[in-house]
Formats: sequence, C-alpha cells, structure tokens
Amino acid sequence: MKRDLLAINDFSQEEILDLLDKSADLKEKRQKGIEYLPLKGKTLGMIFNKNSTRTRISFEVGMYELGGHALFLTGDQLQLNRGETLRDSAQVLSRYLNGILIRTYDHEEIIALAKHATIPVINGLTDFNHPVQILADILTIKEKLGRIKGVKVAYVGDGNNVTHSWMTGASLMGMHLTVACPLSCKPLSTPWMEGEGKVEIMEDPFEAVKNADVIYTDVWISMGQEEENEDKKKLLHPYQINQKLVDAAKKDVLVMHCLPAHREMEITAEVLDGKHSIVFDQAENRLHVQKAILEKLLSPSQP
Ligand code: CP
Ligand code: NVA
Repeated sequence: MKRDLLAINDFSQEEILDLLDKSADLKEKRQKGIEYLPLKGKTLGMIFNKNSTRTRISFEVGMYELGGHALFLTGDQLQLNRGETLRDSAQVLSRYLNGILIRTYDHEEIIALAKHATIPVINGLTDFNHPVQILADILTIKEKLGRIKGVKVAYVGDGNNVTHSWMTGASLMGMHLTVACPLSCKPLSTPWMEGEGKVEIMEDPFEAVKNADVIYTDVWISMGQEEENEDKKKLLHPYQINQKLVDAAKKDVLVMHCLPAHREMEITAEVLDGKHSIVFDQAENRLHVQKAILEKLLSPSQP
C-alpha cells in the first residue's frame, strides 16, 4: 500500500530513527562519491504554488542523485488552477508519476490529493505544517549533539507551520520544546501531539531559552501572510534572536533557522553568522533527508 508524508506523525518514532540512519548513510555515500541509484526510472512530480529554494532544489537534486527524475510543475501551468479538480488531477498524475511533492496553501488540498492519488504524496509545506524541514532539523541536532531524546529546543518567534511540525516532531521523538511567542501569534491548539516529549507554550523568550540546547526561529511573516506585516513585526520585535537571548541559553547552545532568513528582523546577522549558528549545515541536511524520504516512499524494495 502507498504511504504519504503529510505530517511528521505519518511516520512512527522508530521509522523516523531508521530514516535518520538512512539519511546519514546517504550523506556518507555522497561524500565518498559512491553511486546509488535505487530510484532508476522513477519520476517525482513537484507542484509548487509558493516560492522555494531549499525544498525544490533538495528534492530535485535528490531524485537525480538516486537515479530518478523530477518534474517541476507550478499550479498555474497545470489545469489544476484553471478548475480541474484535485480528484481528477490526482488520478491522472498517478498514471504518469511515481510520487508527488506539493507545496501549497491549504492543508486540506494535500489531504484531498493524497486521498485520490494512488502514489505517495509528500508535503513540501502548507500553511499548517512543514514536516520535511523538521525531519532534516532533527538529523542536524542528532549529528551535533549525538542524541535526540531529552534535547531542549526553544522555538522563539511566530507560531506558524514550522512551529506546528516542531510540536509534533518534538512530542513524537521525546524532545522538550518550548515555544515563546506573543499571545496573538500562538500556534494552533495541538490535538496531534501525542508522544513522550514535552511541549510548552509561553510568552517570555528568556524563560523559553533557559537551559536550551537549541534556539530555533523562522520568519515572522510566512508566505501568503504578507498583509499582516507592520503590526506583527512590532509585536514580534522582543522575540528577535540576538546575542542577549543567545547568552541566556546554555553556553554552547546551537542556533537554527529553517531559512530564508531576514537579517536584523527575526535574527541578527551577528547571530546568524556567529559561532553558535548551524543554519547552513541544517540547510544541507535537507538534501540527505529528502533523499531518504524519497527512497522510503518511492522504492518498492523499502518496507
Ligand atoms: N526552509 C525551506 O523550506 O526553504 P524554501 O522555502 O527555500 O524551500
Ligand atoms: N514559515 C515559513 C517557512 C518557509 C520555509 C513560510 O511558510 O513562509
């Protein structure tokens, strides 16, 4: 039966641990120049209704490196945005492709696509969540700290799609996540959080980062929310990741940002380029983890 990845908890904790091992193995193969082509002859359709650098490129390069092929499709070029239904599109695409990656606005759209497609559907970000990002983030934390369980991650900023996936991921993987944000920027309530980890939501960023192993942030204005701009930026100003906040966490705290970053808004350039920052290792790991996801979902030899 086909599997989808619409939210992190579509995979179990054990599957995620296996996926991270697989990612590390793929990373090593790439570094050593070892050819590995389990997706020879397979094609991934990639539908983007929003901009992307990392997601698009890591999946496209990932397919190529695994021996397959990726098609970059925008909703506007497909009949989808001219009224062809998701149901019909899903059935047609399933006859040509071996998997679909989609980045769009409404999460319900990818649920409908997955329901009607007979091939795996991967969520490349919706307004609700961003699972493929957080899986790569967890690999990066494992590489840097040598552990996942019990790691304290302080997410400081806007409660958004990335926050939601972090809440699910931390809870599933036994991590401790504190989310600091103004009341009006709080993430959604959390019925999907069922796991051994701990998630706390608070207003004070300094309380959130106390004893944190990782400080994490994302943009204040997500794609599709551009009108909210000026008032929201003012409200979020006390939540900027700057040196003072970094100094309030553990001495060797790691600083992460899913990127793209807005320097001097949600994070200062000093911190982004500073010794605590691991943002570019984090970005690189998108490639290795996306490849492991593709192999898991698209390769018939994978359970
Ligand atoms: N972090 C992330 O998903 O980046 P892109 O928007 O560039 O894909
Ligand atoms: N929250 C951001 C993430 C970008 C990768 C957005 O949705 O625009």
